[in-house]
Amino acid sequence: MLQENGISTAEALAMSPHSVVSEVDGLGGKTAKKLIWNARNALGMTEFTIAEEIDENIEYITTGSSELNRILGGGIATGKLTEIFGPFKSGKTNLAHTIAVTIQLPEKKGGLNATVAYIDSENTFAKEKIKRIAKRFGLDPKKVLSKIHHARIYSSDHQQQMIAKAETLCKTRGVRLIVVDSLMALLRNEYVGIGMLARRQNVLNNMIHALSRTAETYNCAVLLTNQVATKMVGMFSADDAIGGNIVAHGCHFRMMFKTKGFSSNNSLKRRAIIVDAPDLPPEECEFFITSAGIADSDQVEMPKSREMNFQIETLYEESNVNQEEEDESNIETEELDDRDLTSVKGIGKGTAENLINYGISSISQLIESNPEDVASKISGVSLKKVQEWQENARAILQT
Ligand SMILES: Nc1ncnc2c1ncn2[C@@H]1O[C@H](COP(=O)(O)OP(=O)(O)OP(=O)(O)O)[C@@H](O)[C@H]1O
Ligand SMILES: [Mg+2]
Repeated sequence: MLQENGISTAEALAMSPHSVVSEVDGLGGKTAKKLIWNARNALGMTEFTIAEEIDENIEYITTGSSELNRILGGGIATGKLTEIFGPFKSGKTNLAHTIAVTIQLPEKKGGLNATVAYIDSENTFAKEKIKRIAKRFGLDPKKVLSKIHHARIYSSDHQQQMIAKAETLCKTRGVRLIVVDSLMALLRNEYVGIGMLARRQNVLNNMIHALSRTAETYNCAVLLTNQVATKMVGMFSADDAIGGNIVAHGCHFRMMFKTKGFSSNNSLKRRAIIVDAPDLPPEECEFFITSAGIADSDQVEMPKSREMNFQIETLYEESNVNQEEEDESNIETEELDDRDLTSVKGIGKGTAENLINYGISSISQLIESNPEDVASKISGVSLKKVQEWQENARAILQT
């Protein structure tokens, strides 16, 4: 019964508020109190500790960028909640993918030699991306994937359930990182309007509480990604994370990613700013998104060791064509821009409209787009489908 209500370990019971446990069907106030106190006793939580003996063993997971690690005081910290918020395409999911791999590295290389629970509410988890990041860090992609526990989430209630399940994985499967990408996406859609705000914040509060408890109990890192809303402050507009004070106060580290100042279509450079962290200065830095995750530059080095028996693909941002060829193809693609997307085999009017809404309005843009990205952003479209369109678009280019 307790498990069904998200209280699946003695630790969870010991740290749950009385008001929550007593509400579990049929338990009642007295029994709830007894259960909680027994759990606290069993875990040695009923004595004060001498401050000198407090276990504050913070460890850090490398983000893939030494600059980001620097402003975060070493990387993504264990035992705490870290919130990354920023606009569309700012690199939040890329960071989530990168640390899902780097946590598996040995400690001396910036990892924790541990496994991951990945809660995916936007359907943007990409195995191919994980494989590329694994190769970059010299890890076997198959093994890396086997250590990521992935859950695709469909409702906020489902999200709550899987957050509780993640706590169990910390206990049973050595999970030391929980990713929630993104925290608010489903809540935002389910609880619309001011009348629903109190209920939404209540659900959110429960999630943040459960995650904090898990982070603390298992010295586990928690990464939450969040979207932004533009707020007007007098004459100025500013981007702020959604979720209000509950998220802001519940997260120990808050970092903002920005695309502003860089064209997110042409450049993979991003800016990160520490917005709130009790023991860190308000610093900022630049980093890059690459096909193999977050990095310090747009070119990441892939290890060339022969023992690594897997193929290393060309990076997304690397160009194989020389300047002359590139100029030529530019002329061709410019001419093609006049043609409608519907001239590509397999693309009808509705799909063309969806693509235009996503920001792809010409054949050349379709060819240059990242198929994983397009497939993840347009509902009902598979990666294979997008790759087919790209092939058909290239065929037009050759005729
Ligand atoms: N293979 C790749 N190589 C280089 N850059 C890539 C690759 N795949 C995606 N990108 C870039 O990453 C950016 C998207 O980043 P990401 O998905 O991390 O953003 P996000 O902040 O999670 O956005 P959202 O709010 O939409 O979830 C895009 O600008 C895209 O061009
Ligand atoms: Mg994302």
